[in-house]
Amino acid sequence: MKVIEIKGAFGIENLAPSERARPGPVGPGQVLLRMRAASLNFRDLMTVRGLYNPKQPLPLIPCSDGVGEVVETGPGVTRVKTGDRVATCFFQRWCAGRPTLEKAASTLGGPLDGTLAEYMLLGEGGVVPVPAHLTDAEGATLPCAALTAWSALVTQGDVKPGDSVLVQGTGGVALFALQFAKLLGARVMAISGSEDKLARAMALGADHGVNYKTTPRWSKAAREWSGGTGVDHIVEVGGAGTLQESLQAAGLGGQVSVIGVLAGASKELNILPILMKNVRLQGIFVGHREGFEAMNRAMARHGLKPVVDSTFPLDQAGEAFRRMERGEHFGKICLSHGC
Ligand SMILES: NC(=O)c1ccc[n+]([C@@H]2O[C@H](COP(=O)([O-])OP(=O)(O)OC[C@H]3O[C@@H](n4cnc5c(N)ncnc54)[C@H](OP(=O)(O)O)[C@@H]3O)[C@@H](O)[C@H]2O)c1
Repeated sequence: MKVIEIKGAFGIENLAPSERARPGPVGPGQVLLRMRAASLNFRDLMTVRGLYNPKQPLPLIPCSDGVGEVVETGPGVTRVKTGDRVATCFFQRWCAGRPTLEKAASTLGGPLDGTLAEYMLLGEGGVVPVPAHLTDAEGATLPCAALTAWSALVTQGDVKPGDSVLVQGTGGVALFALQFAKLLGARVMAISGSEDKLARAMALGADHGVNYKTTPRWSKAAREWSGGTGVDHIVEVGGAGTLQESLQAAGLGGQVSVIGVLAGASKELNILPILMKNVRLQGIFVGHREGFEAMNRAMARHGLKPVVDSTFPLDQAGEAFRRMERGEHFGKICLSHGC
């Protein structure tokens, strides 16, 4: 079968088409998928560049997120059947409850081979049906970015109608958070480094937008927008470079969901706002399958469509990664397997 793999050394330039044996035979509890689409996450870009886990053995088929059709099921499979269209779970073995080291190590796109392959052999517990109203590419955006936003706002967030939510940037996680927050009846402020992208975020439903390049101290604007009380929930993807501003922007009893490291992973931090404002700092690591299924039910019920920035043919995966690297995207970059 045809795959795209990182071969020899890390780097987008080392991402190349290759041939591997089609996986099989299909064992008890397993499903064979013929893959149709994939999507890119910032983590995949870091993996390809060797920055996520430099000790990851190569070759590796990258990317955690994809959609495929079940073409064969092994003995004892009950959750899906041949012909079903399913999405891959980021964690192959985290179904519900708290994560464990073993569950946290079961991620696709490193250490396990990922979705840029014609076929994948997975456990039936590692896939979920895709909502019928979504295209293959749209379905492929769900496993990591969408579920992370859902976990932040719903599973571990308890956002309520009328709450204020701040999202950072206009990438995959942020735009899903914007859409889910609106679906929950919350008010949303978006920050972006681009006026054009801010206008698009407003068109998507954001109530207020601030440019973090022209207004680097955006916490003041956020507090004003919230009516002076501070923001109830902040979807923090900047990391060390934005966390202090997020803590300044947060209201008493608010939550900062710590998700990303776009602006660095470590920096000196004044922790006083955390205790003085009774802020809940909640780390988010994607989420479990139960959350994925709950999110899909909500998306189907409301006909919610992911924001797809662009779709590239599978063999142009390098071009897709370069678009992400340049930060040109608004929403999700997808790949089509051409079937
Ligand atoms: N913990 C988890 O489970 C988890 C899951 C998914 C993602 N993540 C992490 O979350 C982050 C975002 O991931 P993603 O896949 O959504 O990335 P993405 O689609 O590449 O989005 C990145 C966007 O963030 C914005 N941005 C960059 N620097 C910023 C800054 N200093 N302040 C505010 N916004 C900034 C930019 O938007 P504008 O162009 O509009 O400025 C950029 O387009 C990454 O660090 C990723 O590793 C973590």
